[in-house]
Order: sequence, then C-alpha cells, then structure tokens
Amino acid sequence: MNQLFDLTGKVAVVTGGNRGLGKDIAAGLAESGADVVVVARNVKPEVVKELHRYGVNAKGINFDLQHTEQFDDLVSQIIEEFGKVDILVNNAGVQKRHPSVDFPKEDWDFVMNINTNAVFLLCQKFGRRMIQQGSGKIINMASMLSFHGGFTVPAYAASKGAVMQFTKSLANEWAEQGVNVNAIAPGYMATEMNTALIDDETRNKEILNRIPAKRWGEPKDLRGAAVFLASPASDYIHGFTLAVDGGYLGR
Ligand SMILES: NC(=O)c1ccc[n+]([C@@H]2O[C@H](COP(=O)([O-])OP(=O)(O)OC[C@H]3O[C@@H](n4cnc5c(N)ncnc54)[C@H](O)[C@@H]3O)[C@@H](O)[C@H]2O)c1
Repeated sequence: MNQLFDLTGKVAVVTGGNRGLGKDIAAGLAESGADVVVVARNVKPEVVKELHRYGVNAKGINFDLQHTEQFDDLVSQIIEEFGKVDILVNNAGVQKRHPSVDFPKEDWDFVMNINTNAVFLLCQKFGRRMIQQGSGKIINMASMLSFHGGFTVPAYAASKGAVMQFTKSLANEWAEQGVNVNAIAPGYMATEMNTALIDDETRNKEILNRIPAKRWGEPKDLRGAAVFLASPASDYIHGFTLAVDGGYLGR
C-alpha cells in the first residue's frame, strides 16, 4: 500500500454509513486499512460483515442523530471500545422538498438539526479528542447546494452552505493542532436521496445536460476523495471543499 494513502491502524467513524454514499465511503476507508464504526439508524449486520471482508475491525451503532443530547455517550462508547478516533466522516444527511412559500417550520428544523447542528456538534466532540491527541481528519458532506440555491430546497441549501462555511472556521482554529477539517461536495449522485429527481424526466434531462461527464455520479466515485482527505496525502489541506461532481460546478 502506498503510505500516502495508507489508513492501517486508524479508527474511522462514518455517520449514515449503512447505505448510499456513506456505505461506499466506509468501504473505501476499510479497504485502505481503517477500522470503521458506522453510526446510523438501523445498521444492518450485512453492512458490518461487508466491512469485515477487508480484514479490519468494524462495528455498527444504531443511533438517531436527532438526539444531540446523547452525543457525549456516543463518543464515550466509541472511545471505550476503540481507544481513539482518527477520522470522522459526517455523512448522514436528509432532504425535504416544498415550495419555499409553504415550507413547514418542522421540516426546516428537521433538516437543519441533522445536516448542520448534529454535524457541528460531532465535529466539536470528536475534534476535542483529536486536538488532545494532536492529529485527526474530519470530512463533512457538503453539496452542490453549498454553492447554489437550488429549487424548493431552502433548508437543505442553508444547511449545506453552513457546513461549507464552518468547515473553514474549524480548520482556521484546528489546523495548527494537527487536525484537518475539510468537506466533500458530491455532485448529482444516483442514491435514494435523489429518487424524485431521477424519476422526473424533465429535471433528469436538465441535470444530465449540465454535467460535463454526462452521467449521474455513483457512490463509488466518492471513495478516492474520502480516502485522500482521510490520509496523510492531504496533511497540508485545510478548510477546503472538494467537489466530486463530474465537472458540474465549473460549467
Ligand atoms: N446523493 C447526492 O446526490 C448527494 C449530493 C450532495 C450531497 N449529498 C450528501 O451526502 C450525504 C449522504 O447522502 P446519500 O445520497 O447517501 O443519502 P441517503 O439518503 O442514501 O443516506 C443518508 C444516510 O443518512 C442517515 N441518516 C439520516 N438521518 C439520520 C439520523 N437522524 N440519524 C442517523 N442517521 C441518519 C441514513 O441512515 C442514511 O444512512 C448526505 O449528507 C447528503 O446530503 C448527497
């Protein structure tokens, strides 16, 4: 294994690592040698079994990230069992679509709580440990909607804009303490989150026309970016949001 990308002996936590993009990111980190803890609602035993195939230690923890008051217990449970956390991937996220004029406040709060508040608090709680150990890699999931306003998704756009911004804020404070905080902005990826767009013939065509690579992204397209930002190869990269988008942003 090229040492630049070797994660042997590292412990990674991936939220929402039981399906979609998170599942592939977890597999990519395990393939590079990291032990992986998947934190999600209803982690299926198959997900953990698949990670074991890479010869690493893996565990699933059923946890609802809306329960921010239980975050300290979650961190303690992981540290107790694995001894440390080197890599945190804040992948879990949710989407709600309504015309903005009718966007329900409970849906606004729901999206902001999981996509922004939980991400910040997990950065803070795991980041504190990483600062103490003098090293760590945090990867937050941003979006094309960290850059654009989107359509009928004001809460999601606000939440992902916030993620990109506080990724820079944390990097400014923690870089000199050996902790890298960066983000990945996936483009349009074919996962369950986008079923509504994929099934809408007009929107699907509009989206594909704008992607220079002329295809939706696949979860496996994110593995390289995740391993890179989790590994020594990215030691001098701080506060950056890396687009993995088939060229969409540049168009
Ligand atoms: N799919 C895309 O095109 C796309 C594009 C840009 C960004 N993203 C972001 O990437 C991340 C993953 O997206 P995806 O497409 O794989 O979505 P997905 O809906 O397939 O998976 C989301 C994951 O988040 C977890 N999750 C949601 N709410 C949770 C909660 N309350 N507690 C614990 N876990 C919870 C789910 O269990 C699931 O594992 C999200 O942050 C999303 O916003 C996705």
